Amino acid sequence: MASLMLSPAKAADANRGAELAKRWCASCHVVDGGQKQASADVPPFSAIANRSDFSPEKLAFFLLDPHPKMPNFPLSRNEAGDIAAYIGSLRK
Ligand code: HEC
Repeated sequence: MASLMLSPAKAADANRGAELAKRWCASCHVVDGGQKQASADVPPFSAIANRSDFSPEKLAFFLLDPHPKMPNFPLSRNEAGDIAAYIGSLRK
């Protein structure tokens, strides 16, 4: 319990992020290995996770302010953090 509170990055829930990603993102992005194809020119989450400049913090921040090609998501800060944690878990 104490260790959970000391490390904010661990407070995000990657499993919940996976559920959210399947609901909100899978129509355009390949969100996990079991998914065959989404939109051709949209980067799969595994590719995003393996970029050299990837960090869950930056990603969560990005998700709170989606860029124009992406629809506006009603994501809370916690949800953005969960999705970022999930994408971070795909990093090899
Ligand atoms: C309607 C289609 C669509 C949906 C739904 C969508 N995206 Fe995207 N996303 C895109 C496109 C298109 C790009 C590439 C944009 C570009 O190259 O400018 C992109 C790019 C990204 C990027 C990479 C940005 C970068 O730095 O290059 C991230 C991260 C991302 N999306 C996360 C998400 C997440 C998380 C969700 C679900 C909450 C989501 N997207 C849902 C279309 C979508």
